[in-house]
Amino acid sequence: MQKTRRTVLKALLAVPPSLAFLSDRMIAQAADLSLTPSCAGDEEETLEQTQGPFYRPDAPLRSSLGPAAAGQSAFTLCGFVIDTRCNPVPGAIVEIWHADHEGNYDNHGLGWRGHQVTDAKGRWGFDTIMTHHYSFRTAHYHFRIKVPGRPLLTTQLYLPDHPRNENDHLFDPRLLMTLDRKNVVGRFDFVVAA
Ligand SMILES: [Fe+2]
Repeated sequence: MQKTRRTVLKALLAVPPSLAFLSDRMIAQAADLSLTPSCAGDEEETLEQTQGPFYRPDAPLRSSLGPAAAGQSAFTLCGFVIDTRCNPVPGAIVEIWHADHEGNYDNHGLGWRGHQVTDAKGRWGFDTIMTHHYSFRTAHYHFRIKVPGRPLLTTQLYLPDHPRNENDHLFDPRLLMTLDRKNVVGRFDFVVAA
């Protein structure tokens, strides 16, 4: 029993204390993005998309995948996980993985991969870099959202007006992020079944 408590405490201490307020800060840095999810109460569940070949398990718990190096552009992705009735979903595991600034995945290590757990308001956010298109794929970020007791949601997010979007048969406009005016913050609210 005591060992279990210690293990749980250790896990909690491993979470950076700033994580809970991270996505508010991220959203607030883009003054033109709403601080609350846009939700009418009859939302459609977020569209599922293929996982693709480059998923790797055990992505670390972290909110910053960077920092951006020379030649890379810093980019922040953030938003909420809500259900179809607009309720925030706390405790959801949000996992991200994406190609780097040249369209390459880290298939040996865990670069540009991470996960976090939504806070009481259902918020998530990652500081990372702008990804790049590769092969027939337009620029995209992969996500898996796991809510306890519900099916895994696997999907991808896209950038508005990316010149490759229309040539990628997997692209779907329902998965477009909203960008701030400076194009450095992308916002998307994942919707899961109520
Ligand atoms: Fe991909």
